[in-house]
Amino acid sequence: MKKLFFALAICLFAATSCCNECKKTTKCDTCCEAENPVIEAIMARRSIRAYTDEAVSRELLDKIAECGINAPNGMNAQQWEVRIVDSKEWLDNATAAYREDVKGTPAEKQFEEPSFKNMFRNAPAVIFVAHKPGHCTQVDCGLMAGNMMLAAQSLGLGSICMMGPLMWLNSEAGEPIIASLGFSEGYEPLLCIGIGYADEQPDARPRNKEVIKYVE
Ligand SMILES: Cc1cc2nc3c(=O)[nH]c(=O)nc-3n(C[C@H](O)[C@H](O)[C@H](O)COP(=O)(O)O)c2cc1C
Repeated sequence: MKKLFFALAICLFAATSCCNECKKTTKCDTCCEAENPVIEAIMARRSIRAYTDEAVSRELLDKIAECGINAPNGMNAQQWEVRIVDSKEWLDNATAAYREDVKGTPAEKQFEEPSFKNMFRNAPAVIFVAHKPGHCTQVDCGLMAGNMMLAAQSLGLGSICMMGPLMWLNSEAGEPIIASLGFSEGYEPLLCIGIGYADEQPDARPRNKEVIKYVE
């Protein structure tokens, strides 16, 4: 009887709790954030620069890319193209060409890091996004990138948005590598998203809440 009463009490407690996080019976900002998977993904996402060697399945990469192209975009013009690279050989070749080109410059320092794997912050898969320059196409691609990173987060994957590698890839030295991505004529590579299983858990970088103001 005592056991039954105890079990009933636990069930009642679970049923009236707002969430599994804080067990409060009334809604609070913290627990309800943990109960909302979208807000949870937004708040938990961090830029990942260390990845395990585990490959990301094409099923997951497909899903992430599909979430990307479902981002809002100006007049639904979809002036963007996406190329997914999950070939270690491709990523290593690009890195080797970059390494050769920056020999003797300060950029060479990054290769000395023991954790260095490739120029895409070590990610085993990289999604390249190009835009056909026009009204708000850069914003469109940024929103696409946001969708992709949040999708990755929700699928248990780490990610990082990068423009740094594109600076070199869009230079003369990077031309053959960019060409191998096969973007259509008139499209310019803008950013890339590294995706993989995170091998680090970085803390959130501070955000300045002062930038948010209500206008009465
Ligand atoms: C448009 C854009 C370009 C970025 N380029 C790079 C990059 O080239 N290399 C890098 O390590 N991080 C890059 N980042 C990641 C930012 O450094 C990171 O988002 C920022 O420090 C906030 O950290 P968090 O993403 O962990 O919240 C970029 C982010 C954005 C949005």
